[in-house]
Amino acid sequence: MSRIPLEQLASHATALVADGKGILAADESTPTCTKRFQALGIGSSEASRRDYREMLFTTPGLGDFVSGAILYDETIRQSAANGTPIPALLEKQGIVPGIKVDTGAKPLAGSPEEKVTEGLDGLRDRVAAYYDLGARFAKWRAVITIGAGIPSPACIEVNAHALARYARLCQEGGLVPIVEPEVLMDGDHDIERCEAVTNATLHAVFHALFQQGVALEGMVLKPNMVIAGKACAAQADVEEVAMRTLRCLRRTVPAAVPGVAFLSGGQSDEAATEHLNAMNALAGPHPWKLSFSYGRALQDLAMKRWKGASENVGVAQQALFCRAKFNSAASRGIYSVEMEQELKAA
Ligand code: 13P
Repeated sequence: MSRIPLEQLASHATALVADGKGILAADESTPTCTKRFQALGIGSSEASRRDYREMLFTTPGLGDFVSGAILYDETIRQSAANGTPIPALLEKQGIVPGIKVDTGAKPLAGSPEEKVTEGLDGLRDRVAAYYDLGARFAKWRAVITIGAGIPSPACIEVNAHALARYARLCQEGGLVPIVEPEVLMDGDHDIERCEAVTNATLHAVFHALFQQGVALEGMVLKPNMVIAGKACAAQADVEEVAMRTLRCLRRTVPAAVPGVAFLSGGQSDEAATEHLNAMNALAGPHPWKLSFSYGRALQDLAMKRWKGASENVGVAQQALFCRAKFNSAASRGIYSVEMEQELKAA
């Protein structure tokens, strides 16, 4: 028995990838957020993390380009300085609140260089609590590392299984699951290897989703793009990334899935936008929407400009607004590098 009918779940999933819209991932765990703040000399406290997220979510006009925002457990329970609960603040902008429900990627027993994502214990109750707090979608991130002899079939299998268990529990509880199997960019592997591993991973994930009866119409896939490892000397051009990523998705992702919202994974802001644009501009039509669910590629410049100071809120919001606007254009295949002038002029 599901808390809401499948049709409603499917319409929530479709809304997350509505024309010209994507997702803002702002669900960094406290340790990750602290690391990013510290790199910029920003103090990390419950209050400063709240101020930062409030700055992001009150960006004027953000709702024109952003359908949903993924929150961390701390944030969904916080209120803005004026007392408005964060989920209500988002709803005022027309942005659907979402929640990260995994509890992190931990070393895989027997193969410590690999990871398995935890968080299934007690998940049914947490989903119900998050629904009551206003969340309408959720996220679970599985991590697949490429290296000598890895990923192992076992690593892919356990992560796919956990993603499917999470997705089914979310759908039962009325949340649209964002299914995120991330093949990392870390390493010196070439793009060919990334394509092979992404292909195997997505294949295993959709097999597990099928086995566990997840309704594909009521979910969104959040994959990596097919891209060479960061330390690989041969970096593919934009067209090759777009072509290989699309080929991989066509081979593995059923047309019943309403949308694919990519993670940025450590790509530069502009590269993440250009790659998404190329996929939407070069080849089509696609069976699913191709959009974004970026964390760093939306937030990096905004965080750098904010620096923890309230007088910088305006320039920081301008950075987030522009990146969201550019990625919105990329999701329609109408982005051009000239648009970046709007951001550089500020
Ligand atoms: P990045 O876009 O920074 O990879 O973050 C997206 C995300 O949600 C990772 O889980």
